[in-house]
Amino acid sequence: MTGRKIAVVGLGGIGGVAAACLSLSPDNDVTVCARRRIDTLTFDHHEESKRIPLKTLTEPSRAEPVDWVILCTKAQDVASAASWLERLCTPKTTVAVLQNGIAHEERVAPHAKGATVVPAIVYYNGERFAPDHVRLRHIRGHDLLVPAGAQAEAFAALFEGTPIDVGISAEFITYQWRKLLVNVIANPITALTRQRLGVFQREDIQQLSLGILDEAVAVGRAEGAQLAGNEAEMILETFLAYPPEAGTSMYFDCLAGRPLEIEALNGAVVAAGLRHGLATPLNTAMLTLLKTVSDANAKTP
Ligand SMILES: NC(=O)c1ccc[n+]([C@@H]2O[C@H](COP(=O)([O-])OP(=O)(O)OC[C@H]3O[C@@H](n4cnc5c(N)ncnc54)[C@H](OP(=O)(O)O)[C@@H]3O)[C@@H](O)[C@H]2O)c1
Repeated sequence: MTGRKIAVVGLGGIGGVAAACLSLSPDNDVTVCARRRIDTLTFDHHEESKRIPLKTLTEPSRAEPVDWVILCTKAQDVASAASWLERLCTPKTTVAVLQNGIAHEERVAPHAKGATVVPAIVYYNGERFAPDHVRLRHIRGHDLLVPAGAQAEAFAALFEGTPIDVGISAEFITYQWRKLLVNVIANPITALTRQRLGVFQREDIQQLSLGILDEAVAVGRAEGAQLAGNEAEMILETFLAYPPEAGTSMYFDCLAGRPLEIEALNGAVVAAGLRHGLATPLNTAMLTLLKTVSDANAKTP
């Protein structure tokens, strides 16, 4: 195989779907970097189910430099994936970061040995039923969105002929903040209340959500996102149309006693607020409470 050398780091819902789809293109030579060996991945999409052979590495010391790294761990696991990045990256490598939040480059570049870091907004739903079984669900127009720039077309080309649709945008920062706005209410409120999205039907939760969103919208605007005057209300309205029985990843991580992605979500709003001298008391409250839960989860074996 002499195709583009691609390493997918992290074989969860997002990484599993990315690895399966990338493996469908004959131009890609895909290796999965995971904590356990998986030889075949079952990939469900629409009514079809395919069995996809995988080349898996479980030891970073066996990894070699690649053209592309598709980093699909949760944001809080980037440091633990550093040993993979150190082996896989050279200055010629591009690392596409498929994670929620903002500040992907600051998070990943220190571990990436001079590689180019490209943030990607993930719009698809990747559900992992078992370590070797994932499902792709399309949620909206594009499945992934990357900023316009030198590596954008090349990244989109990796997924050509696969079920993943990649968009490219010059207004990436605005889309990144819109996605973050959904995440700064959906994740902490479902995790803290231990209730699925139906909890947003409550009027008091809607008021709290609008308060969290108003702070985040002000910070997003200061960061350069073009957000509408009624952005907070629009986000909440869109949100109320989601299925009430749906959970969020922080809700499931909380129930399972795993560390939480809170620093990359409400923590990012608080940090950017500090940079711009904007107060974010409600986001700070979400961050403090869920950091406490996350730290306790991290200490429990
Ligand atoms: N799932 C979705 O539908 C969705 C949608 C939009 C955005 N996102 C975002 O996409 C990102 C990935 O989410 P996800 O749902 O795929 O998370 P996930 O299911 O928790 O998967 C993360 C994977 O990373 C692996 N991992 C962690 N540390 C590692 C390390 N040091 N070396 C190798 N593998 C490591 C984990 O391995 P183990 O299995 O061994 O723990 C796990 O398989 C997150 O930022 C999330 O917020 C997800």
